[in-house]
Amino acid sequence: MLAILTYPDERLKRVSEPVERFEDELRAFLTALEEAMDAGPGGVGIAAPQTGHTQRIVLVDCSKARKPVPNHGRLVLINPELTTWEGMEVGREGCLSVPNYTGNVIRAVRVTLQAQDAQGEAHTYHLEGFEARVVQHEIDHLDGILFLERLVSRRSDLFQRKNYLPSPSKG
Ligand code: NI
Repeated sequence: MLAILTYPDERLKRVSEPVERFEDELRAFLTALEEAMDAGPGGVGIAAPQTGHTQRIVLVDCSKARKPVPNHGRLVLINPELTTWEGMEVGREGCLSVPNYTGNVIRAVRVTLQAQDAQGEAHTYHLEGFEARVVQHEIDHLDGILFLERLVSRRSDLFQRKNYLPSPSKG
């Protein structure tokens, strides 16, 4: 099982490298990453650098969200890039790498996303709401950014978890 790095591990600040080879090694890693996401309570997303692998790989699955939300099911996002952003809203986020806190973060409401799949094929996705938020959170991990850095105010936007329950969902 892949171990999840937690704040303030310096490795979470590294910028990940693009994936260039779509071979068996990548598919084996995706399976391990999927297991790590599914093992985390309320894990709706995970980024490869959270496991110490600095590659631009993200998994998202908002079909597992605590409250039902519009979603595309399980997404394997390799070299993901946001190409459009629309609207802004505040929402509560958690993170497998910041297990004891949640925070209020401003994100775009609707985004267009381009990413490759496990075979290297390019796809375009139109995402909104919670799923768009999760993808923005996970792409931040690829650039070494945690939600903690997106808080407007640590004093009013950061909340200690009372217990380790899957609420709200984490990524
Ligand atoms: Ni996270």
